[in-house]
Amino acid sequence: MLYSSVTSSCTRILRSTLKTSLKSFSTSQPTLSTTSSTNPNFVKIVEVGPRDGLQNEPKPIPPPIKAELINRLAISGLRNIEAGSFVSPKWVPQMAGTAEVLALIDSFPKTGYSVLVPNQKGLDDLLEILSPSISPNSHAKPPPSVTEVAIFTSATDAFSFANTNVSVSGSLERLAPVARRALDAGLKVRGYVSVVVTCPFSGRVDPRRVRDVSRELVQMGCYEVSLGDTTGAGTPASIRGMLEEVAKEVDVGTLAGHFHDTNGTATANIMTALDFGLRTFDASVGGLGGCPYSPGATGNVATEDVVYALTGDRLFGDIGEPYGNGEPSETAQSRWDVGPIDLARLAEIGEWISGVLGRETTSRAGKALLARRKREEERKRKEGPKL
Ligand code: HMG
Ligand code: MG
Repeated sequence: MLYSSVTSSCTRILRSTLKTSLKSFSTSQPTLSTTSSTNPNFVKIVEVGPRDGLQNEPKPIPPPIKAELINRLAISGLRNIEAGSFVSPKWVPQMAGTAEVLALIDSFPKTGYSVLVPNQKGLDDLLEILSPSISPNSHAKPPPSVTEVAIFTSATDAFSFANTNVSVSGSLERLAPVARRALDAGLKVRGYVSVVVTCPFSGRVDPRRVRDVSRELVQMGCYEVSLGDTTGAGTPASIRGMLEEVAKEVDVGTLAGHFHDTNGTATANIMTALDFGLRTFDASVGGLGGCPYSPGATGNVATEDVVYALTGDRLFGDIGEPYGNGEPSETAQSRWDVGPIDLARLAEIGEWISGVLGRETTSRAGKALLARRKREEERKRKEGPKL
């Protein structure tokens, strides 16, 4: 019906679009280069859904569900997954089962896992499960491939007290030996700075504080510092202003963006940060999450939305309709490479885990992709089998 009402040239465009859209629904997308060191356009995505996405959920989520989420994310092509945290269960009950989750996840050799540790006890608990206490002849499952820990602090004392019961300087003192010990144990250490734009308790944050805390984390041995817009208040202007200050003392290549999407600006903030030179961003499938100690803040930017913003133009193929008599114009193709991430699979995971939690995915790109697929299936069903 739709087709009968459009001109033949429009029909051609639609067919071409539908063909390429369908291609994108296949789960076997070509594998793209993932070598960040050789490709300046490579963007590393750190999937934080299983930790940041779930930590604030009020109802307990059974470890097998969390493990299934992590496995599905690895299958979708994500290479860096934050799998949980070894924090006090009195403070964040939802993360209490992290050891069990790690024991349940399958091994995907190309995917590395990280966990949050707030103190020595958290690291001790992790190291205990990583130690190869299993005899070499045993058939028991090897320890999970956690290659990295994340330590976390904040740009303001008020948030630091709310989140970890200590001032910023106190937290840095507490974290320094944790970082040293993790490095000695062969783990990489990532650092987080929370509330880099606004603090829910003390308002607008001075970027110089973010700069100084970031520098201290690097001096402690963090190979990467993830800048957390915990409240999601950031705009391209405030993110750029903050980055300009931090970059005075910390190499831009060391910085990552961790932007919550409370005000719908996270994707714009990522594009600004990319422009500034950052190449690592945290994201949460289905836009899950929020921080238990940041009232009102919503989840991280949805992983699907980031992948779409960086590579979504490829879903629609080349320009199909010839224009004028000349050569086809150069297509405005994105230059970003996010590795082998399969957007269609991600959208399915976002829908699935949101359904498990009794809600809809908040990913705009995920919803749009699944709706397009549904329309396609409906169209095919109406057309019937080809003879
Ligand atoms: P505290 O109460 O000052 O700690 O909390 P404590 O040393 O006095 O210990 C109190 C109890 O907790 C003791 O047990 C300890 O054994 C236990 P009790 O004797 O009463 O039975 N305990 C632990 N248990 C398990 N694992 C541990 C651990 N440590 C102590 N590691 C503490 C201090 C740091 C422990 C606490 O404040 C805490 O766990 N905070 C974590 C809060 C958190 O996880 N927040 C969310 C993550 S950060 C985030 O989301 C922001 C981020 O996404 C970036 C952004 O968006 O900005 C990363
Ligand atoms: Mg966060």
